[in-house]
Amino acid sequence: INIIRARYVASAVKKSQYPEEKLKEIAFIGRSNVGKSSLINSLTRVHNLARVSGQPGKTQTINFFELTARMIETGEDKLFHLVDLPGYGYAKTAQANRKQWAKFIEEYFLGSKQLQFVCQLIDIRHAPMKSDIEMFNWLVKNNVPVLIIATKADKISRGAVNKQIAQIRKTLGVKEIDILPYSSVKNAGRSELLEVINQMLND
Ligand code: GTP
Ligand code: MG
Repeated sequence: INIIRARYVASAVKKSQYPEEKLKEIAFIGRSNVGKSSLINSLTRVHNLARVSGQPGKTQTINFFELTARMIETGEDKLFHLVDLPGYGYAKTAQANRKQWAKFIEEYFLGSKQLQFVCQLIDIRHAPMKSDIEMFNWLVKNNVPVLIIATKADKISRGAVNKQIAQIRKTLGVKEIDILPYSSVKNAGRSELLEVINQMLND
């Protein structure tokens, strides 16, 4: 597929604010600052579509983007939603805020019938943290399909990539799971992710 169009559609903190048009959805989750918004910009090739910041905690609402994919074989256009979520695990976020976070994200995960799979982003440089493991286990327990994406792959040497991927697998306690290395700076992993989306759109 080629992404031929991407636009912001809505921000939500509750169900009534989700977009009216029902399209298949892919959500992005991960610790604050892991690179969720950057990955959305890389995937769509629209700079500044999702707001990026060096300061953790930039994204505070559930943000929906509508993408148009043109199927390479048929030339047919298919629409779907990318969903950018606020980061978790940010130490400075007050306890009350964290509870609030959990509540509206949980409502989204458990309530969205459109959600096809979740991309859980983990920084390739570090082993998954407690919050990553908890999030992953929660998704698995609730039967939400997860694709793990290891972000900021440009920050380590090529040789270190496989070693870090193995480390992530081990820490999550899963032997057979696909982990996709990604760099939003170099657009590495983009075509692989587009292939996953292609399959989802054809299902
Ligand atoms: P929150 O919205 O706060 O939860 O953060 P986020 O996960 O959306 O992260 P964001 O995309 O805002 O990126 C955080 C920082 O990491 C920014 O300074 C980005 O420029 C940087 N960054 C993101 N992806 C990459 C990457 O692939 N490579 C490098 N080198 N830097 C990246
Ligand atoms: Mg963000």
